[in-house]
Amino acid sequence: MLDNQLDGVAARLRTARAVSVLTGAGISAESGVPTFRGKDGLWRNYSATDLATPEAFARAPQLVWEWYRWRRRLIGQASPNAGHLALSRFERSLTHVELVTQNVDGLHQRAGSRNIVELHGNIWRARCAEGCGAVIDEAGVVPPADAGRVAVPLCACGARLRPDVVWFGESLDPALVDRAARAARGADVFLVIGTSALVYPAAGLPSVASREGALVVEINIEDTPLTSLADVTLRGPAAVILPAIEARL
Ligand code: OAD
Repeated sequence: MLDNQLDGVAARLRTARAVSVLTGAGISAESGVPTFRGKDGLWRNYSATDLATPEAFARAPQLVWEWYRWRRRLIGQASPNAGHLALSRFERSLTHVELVTQNVDGLHQRAGSRNIVELHGNIWRARCAEGCGAVIDEAGVVPPADAGRVAVPLCACGARLRPDVVWFGESLDPALVDRAARAARGADVFLVIGTSALVYPAAGLPSVASREGALVVEINIEDTPLTSLADVTLRGPAAVILPAIEARL
């Protein structure tokens, strides 16, 4: 059954003029990066309201930075897995691939993907919390041993710096939402990988693609609210399913 499904998806990918991919935390799970809502998920053990809202940052910026530094350390120790790597090679072997990710971990870039829309920002960047426009790339910056007690970093303008990620209650960059929506509308095949499909607007993209006639393929270890919309459901870890598709291209 799975073999037939994989063959069918590979055949559609080969002839597609445009492929869109939406990824969520599940694609990085096998790299050892915790997801948000599964067993051991971040939101099971930490409170989003205390750590990932503008109010939390205003109230306790040091705590918020500690949490993000801890996540940077986890992500810094992780490597792209076979799923990230297969997707990056799709960019070269298929006609046009646009990768929209909700992940902030930068693992798609490290795997070699280039055509990426990062809807929720990137944990390796910081930006001015007061909106002077400064954005600082901190990839590769090794946190000091006492990072937990380091003061909140400051922008050159004197305001606080904050992680350049989207928090609950904040809007996404409209230009990125627009680009993601265009990619969904123009896709012949839409792959939705490792997301619980609960956070909008990302979760709405597969329906947009479906309405425009795309074949929607879900890759996940369990059912999601999108499963009934998907034309094909490939049940299993992304790091297994994506290389299996690639082998059939
Ligand atoms: P979730 O943690 O909500 O969902 C992860 C999904 O990945 C679940 O559906 C799992 O079944 C699936 N999964 C787990 N391991 C997998 C594997 N090896 N292969 C395939 N699928 C697997 O993460 P997201 O859907 O990404 O937003 O969460 C969306 C947004 O909510 C995040 O971007 C974050 C969070 O709050 C912000 O921080 C703004």
